[in-house]
Order: sequence, then structure tokens, then C-alpha cells
Amino acid sequence: MLTRIPVIYMMMPSVLLLCLLVSFSLGDLPTNYEYYTSDGISSGLSTDQPTFYLNGKEIYIYSGAIHYFRVPRAYWRDRLRKLRAAGFNTVETYIAWNLHEYQSGVYDFGNGGSDMEDFLHLEEFIQTAQDEDLFVIIRSGPFICAEFEFGGFPSFILRDGQDLWVRTDNELYMNYVTRWYNVLMPILAQHQFTKGGPIIMLQVENEYAITGYKDHNYLWHLRQLMLDNGIVELLVTADNPWKGTDGAYPEYFLMTGNFDSDAQTNLDTLKSLQPNKPIMVMEYWSGWFDYWGQQHQNKTADQFKEVYEAILSYPASVNMYMFIGGTNFYFLSGAQNLAYDDLNTKFTPMTTSYDYGAPLAENGAYTDKYWIAQELIAKYNPIQTKLPAVPDEIKPIYYPWVTLDKQITLDTLLIHALSDTSSNLISMENMNINGGSGQSYGYVVYRKTGLTLSANSVLKIEGRVCDTVIVLVNGVRVSPILETSSDLNNFGTWRTNDSTLILNTVDLTDVTVDLLVENWGRVNVGAYRQYKGLWEGNVLINGNIISDWTLYALEFKKSWTNSLTDWTSVTSRDINQPVLYKGTLSITGTPGDSYVYMEEFTKGIVIINGFVLGRYTKMGPQQTLYLPAPLLKEGDNDIMIFEHYQPAEQVKFVIEHVYTNH
Ligand SMILES: *[C@@H]1O[C@H](CO)[C@@H](O)[C@H](O)[C@H]1NC(C)=O
Ligand SMILES: *[C@@H]1O[C@H](CO)[C@@H](O)[C@H](O)[C@H]1NC(C)=O
Repeated sequence: MLTRIPVIYMMMPSVLLLCLLVSFSLGDLPTNYEYYTSDGISSGLSTDQPTFYLNGKEIYIYSGAIHYFRVPRAYWRDRLRKLRAAGFNTVETYIAWNLHEYQSGVYDFGNGGSDMEDFLHLEEFIQTAQDEDLFVIIRSGPFICAEFEFGGFPSFILRDGQDLWVRTDNELYMNYVTRWYNVLMPILAQHQFTKGGPIIMLQVENEYAITGYKDHNYLWHLRQLMLDNGIVELLVTADNPWKGTDGAYPEYFLMTGNFDSDAQTNLDTLKSLQPNKPIMVMEYWSGWFDYWGQQHQNKTADQFKEVYEAILSYPASVNMYMFIGGTNFYFLSGAQNLAYDDLNTKFTPMTTSYDYGAPLAENGAYTDKYWIAQELIAKYNPIQTKLPAVPDEIKPIYYPWVTLDKQITLDTLLIHALSDTSSNLISMENMNINGGSGQSYGYVVYRKTGLTLSANSVLKIEGRVCDTVIVLVNGVRVSPILETSSDLNNFGTWRTNDSTLILNTVDLTDVTVDLLVENWGRVNVGAYRQYKGLWEGNVLINGNIISDWTLYALEFKKSWTNSLTDWTSVTSRDINQPVLYKGTLSITGTPGDSYVYMEEFTKGIVIINGFVLGRYTKMGPQQTLYLPAPLLKEGDNDIMIFEHYQPAEQVKFVIEHVYTNH
């Protein structure tokens, strides 16, 4: 810090320094925007020297990541103010292409008709950040990774088949990107710093080096699309420094680095790659994410502090990934394929919670890391500006238990589902529904009727299931229950190849076989053939290929779920098939945040007033789903549980996350 103070004083004309000392005496500091823009705006970030200058004034960027699509809109201001109150001067967000273009050529930037519409008021998020005295970094992808469904790609692009190659200059892929950027970029352009807005930096692609493609034409093409649409602020790339310039194009973009340890080595590497340029960490990982069926992850506060301090004292600019992780609402959690092959053989899906062990917990509560970040930024930031008071916490509350007294069985749900027929097996994406965009999320049921089955008939699914299957014979489940992580090795999951199952023990005629396949989230990095359902091979019974299927898309879209009317009273909980249950949560007064406790259920999704809150599974590690108050209302609220196996009688609520230990 001592070595930096003279630099700042030297660059300030003495008159200005005097003004600052006079008008911004203790307790009367300038805001971020007053400090950087009160003399008018003539330039954005410059990178011609070892530190950033914004509008001619030195700046260290202290940014924190908040994804607008992982935090309810009603809480954006709260989370942004908490960021600013800790001393950060910038917020960073990715842009989720798959949410904004939820069907091919159909866009949602708030109230656009998709189930995520309330999260998609992108301009409001950007404007709120500016109102809260923050600059904005946009990472528009188009690929974002982010442990998010398909790394942010919309699933309809898969309908183009094997000739489409994402993350390259491939023509089919670039047609989609071009159409999307021509919609997105003009919106962002209006909010750039030099146009009076908060956006000071945009990132192109994301950890592109990991692909190994080194397709410079692609990066150049993305840049050109941005420039053509009026983007003028600084463009950067972000990669692990040890990847060198593999994912970069240093002539066109400032390189930034992603890592969470060995700060000195990583920053030195970055510096050696582009001497005399500002050094910035685009992702300093404050914690880590969870996979279903594995140990809950959380980097300790000490580890977090050590590396964050090493970055700040280097000194470098840094974006903390995440400041608040938030939630993978709806069906939006991603997955990893640790084998990086196109068959996703090491498929490992992520949890609904994206708490990330970040400075703010999933519900916006302060953790130890928040106070550490606040202390360290105050210690290292050479520029003093006015900060808001630290906002009060929003305390979670208990709700009374909700009895699930209404139900609709799978058979009845399918009567209402969108359907398609196909002679051979096709993926959910290739169904001819949703205006030619196919099915993106949820479950697809493959039904075959009129079968004659001799005793001990053997079902064989060639290849792998994407991702798990429940087999029903005349509406009764005959496949094993999926309850623990070791059950993932049994029939019916992505781990089994060419798997077989005995369907019946006695001779049967006129049989209906249903194969209900669940999409657990598309891989967010490392594999791009992401079809869901049954498509890798044939389905055979006793060695004979079965053809002429009826497909049902069980998408649980809000308008569809809310329109269901054939509810019956729950008489027995031993129905051996997936069932949608419903109960009523009556709230007096203003709703509060809570957590839905699912450990007594087995596997399924929770739906609040028609909106899919997310997946749960007994295998954990998370056993609770964060339920933000903005999804609730005063009066009666519908709580629905689509349980695949064994339900509990009641839905219970707790005031913090519960994790199982593995
Ligand atoms: C993660 O660790 C931090 C710091 O030790 C702690 O404050 C926070 O509660 C933890 N979060 C979770 C979800 O375990
Ligand atoms: C699945 O099994 C088939 C036939 O035994 C084999 O050719 C294929 O490589 C296997 N696939 C995987 C992903 O193991």
C-alpha cells in the first residue's frame, strides 16, 4: 500500500488534490461515481500501463460475482448494496443465453413469457448496480460454463446435429451466436461507462484455453460482432495462467487469470505473458460447488483469506467468484464430465444450491468471508470512497408443516403433456414441440403400448441413459429405487452401458411400458453432444428392437402446472409410480425466506406456486432447498412435490441448510 500512495498523489494535479482534501474530508468521501466521473467522462479503462486507469484516474478493480439469474430480482438491490458495503467497487455477472433466448428466436429480457422471466430484467440489474455505486463487468460468453445448464447454451442448437461445433468459428454455431449477439449487444451498448452507464469491461468467451481449439478466428469473430453492435469498452479474455496464450489473442484482448492458489506464481505468469499491462484475476474462487452424491465443499475462511490477501497485496485487480453464489433454480444446474469425452462417460451433475461457500450465503446472510473481504479491501484499496452502511440480514423463518393431501399420478399427468411420435428413439431436444425448439428441461417419457410379454422378459437399453430412467410396466415401477449414491451403479443411470432389466414375472398381454427419463442438467464444460433421453442406441425386449414410440415431454412449465385440475385426495402413499403431490402453505402477513426440508422424501422436484424451485435427492449433500420470500405471497401458496419414489406425508421447513456427510 505504501508503495502505491505516491503514485496516486503524483498523478493528481495539486489543485485537484487540494479540492479532494477540502471537499472530501473525513465522513464526506466521494462516491465511486463522483470520484471517477465528476469532471465528465472522456475515457473508459486504459491498459497502457501496469495499473488500470478509468477516465484518467488510477483504479484497482475490486469486483464480486453476482449472477442475476441465481438471485431473485427482489433481492438484487440488497445483494448489490452488501457488495458495495464491503468496499467492492464493481459487480461481475455472466449473461445466460439459454434463459434469454428460451426458444429459437424467442427472447425474454423480463416478462418475456419464460418461467425464469422475473430473473431476466437484465437492464434493471445493470441499472441497480449503478444506483448502488458499482461498476459492472459483463461476461457475455456466449459460452459461460458457470456450473450452469449446458454452460449457458440453449439446447435447441443441438437440433442442428453433428455438423454444429460450439465454441468454434463453425458456420452453424456462429449463425446462432450472431443472431443472439445482434439482440444482446445493442442492449449492453447503451449501458457502457463512456455512454454514462456502469459497464467498464466485457469478457469474450470463457476459459477458452480449456477447449484446446485455439480458434483465433472465433475469438476475432466474437469481438467483431461486439464492435459492430457498438461495444467500445475494454474487452478481455479469462484463462488459467498456466495455459499461456492458448485461449487468448493478446493483440485484441487483455488477458486475465483464473485460479484459487499460488497467487504469486499465477500473477507472475500473467505479467510475463503481457508485460506492462494491468494485472487482473477474473476468477478468484471464494469457495466451491457441490455435486449430487458427493461431499459438501467449502473452502475454509483461512484459505480464502490467505490467497485473497496475496492477490490484493501483489497488487492486482480481482473479481471474486462468487461474492454470492445463489441458487440453480428451475432445472438450471449444470454438470461436469470429468472424462471430457462426447459420450459424457464421467457425467457428474451439480446440486440445486449454488451457495459456493461465498462471502454471502445462498440466502444473502453474512459469513466469515464477508468480514474478511471487507477488512482486506479496506487495507489495500488506495482510494477512499463513501460506502453505505452494511444492510441488516433478512432472517429466515419457519413455516408450519404442510400436509400433502392432493395428488395426480404420472398416468394422468401424461394425458396433459406435449407429445410426439417417432418410429425410432429420439432425444428430448429433437421432439417436434415448442415451436420447433424441442424440449429443454425436465423429463421425457417413452411409451410403448400393446406389448405381449412372456414371463421374465428382458428389457435392454443400448448405450447409456441420459441421465436416469424409471421403468414402469402398466404404470407400476419395476426399476430399482435411486436413493443413495451407490445406487447410481445400479440399472437405470448414466453409469450403466447396455443395461438390462427383467420386466415381469408372469405372462402379460396388452402391456404398456413407460421409460421415464430425467435430464439432470447438461454438462457445462468439456463435452458438447448433450442430448437427453434415450438416443445412443435401441431399446430391445427379449432381443427384438422396439419401434414406434409415443414421447411425452414432462416439462413442468408454470402455466402448465398451474392449469392442472384433476387433483384427487391422497389415500395411499404406496403408489409405485412417480406422483405429483400438492399441499397449501397459508401465510399471514408478509412472507419471509425459509428452507424446504426434503430429507424425508426420496428424489424429485419442488414446485412453489407453479415455479420449479429445484431438484432434491436423498443422496445429498444438500437436503434443503432455499425458498426465497419473493416466490411466496400472503394467503394460500401451492407447494407441489413431484416425488419419483417414496414421499413423506408433510413438507417441513427449517431456517438453514442441512447437509449430509458422505
Ligand atoms: C463456509 O465456510 C464459511 C467460512 O468458514 C462459513 O462462514 C460458512 O457458513 C460456510 N458455508 C457453508 C454453506 O457451509
Ligand atoms: C457401451 O457398450 C458397447 C457395446 O458393448 C461398446 O461398444 C461401447 O464402447 C460402450 N460405451 C461406453 C461409453 O462404454
